[in-house]
Amino acid sequence: MAKAVRITSEEPGAFFQHRPVVATIVTAHARGMDNALAIGLHTLISHNPPICGIAVMPERFTYELITESKEFGVNFLSFEEVELVCAVGSSTGREIDKFQKFNIVKDKSVRTAVPILKNAYAAYECKLVDDRGYGNHRWLVGDIVAVHWLKEVYTPENTLDLDKVSPILFLGRNVYLTTSKDSARSIGRIVH
Ligand SMILES: Cc1cc2nc3c(=O)[nH]c(=O)nc-3n(C[C@H](O)[C@H](O)[C@H](O)COP(=O)(O)O)c2cc1C
Repeated sequence: MAKAVRITSEEPGAFFQHRPVVATIVTAHARGMDNALAIGLHTLISHNPPICGIAVMPERFTYELITESKEFGVNFLSFEEVELVCAVGSSTGREIDKFQKFNIVKDKSVRTAVPILKNAYAAYECKLVDDRGYGNHRWLVGDIVAVHWLKEVYTPENTLDLDKVSPILFLGRNVYLTTSKDSARSIGRIVH
């Protein structure tokens, strides 16, 4: 293998594509309509109480719906749904009803009015508790008020069973991939 060249720069360039992210579908409901968009910039912020954050550009139609309703949903889908992620991430709810156009099947939400996707292996219902601008995104923080998951795709230890679900990873530039079950390792650690 050729010698690795490490670039060090104060110019970020395409730094956001330097590592994979898990692609999700974020949902919202307001003005009597449902909408969905793809989100790669998200994270859990707290386990207890459960809190998560998503970075949404203010020009997204979904941003308007979330700030009006003060609710959003986060849906994790398996790799079979990668084209749906791409479809909701390259169209706007200002022009089309994505649920109708892409035949998205919903499941019942319990604490909010946001659509939960029937095919999601895990999903959160969130109540918006903070909305701040950082650079070109808004950082929306949500209290997770209900979680949904498909019991049969989890191991007895509550980790994803990779024989049953392949998560969607996104590298940027329209490149998606999934995990290899053979690469999974269980490595013990001492918890301090
Ligand atoms: C894989 C993927 C990840 C994306 N991640 C984000 C993101 O983190 N934040 C964001 O604002 N837009 C993101 N987008 C773009 C939005 O999903 C896209 O602009 C969408 O069409 C907006 O829909 P809306 O206008 O109906 O809200 C992503 C798109 C794709 C395909």
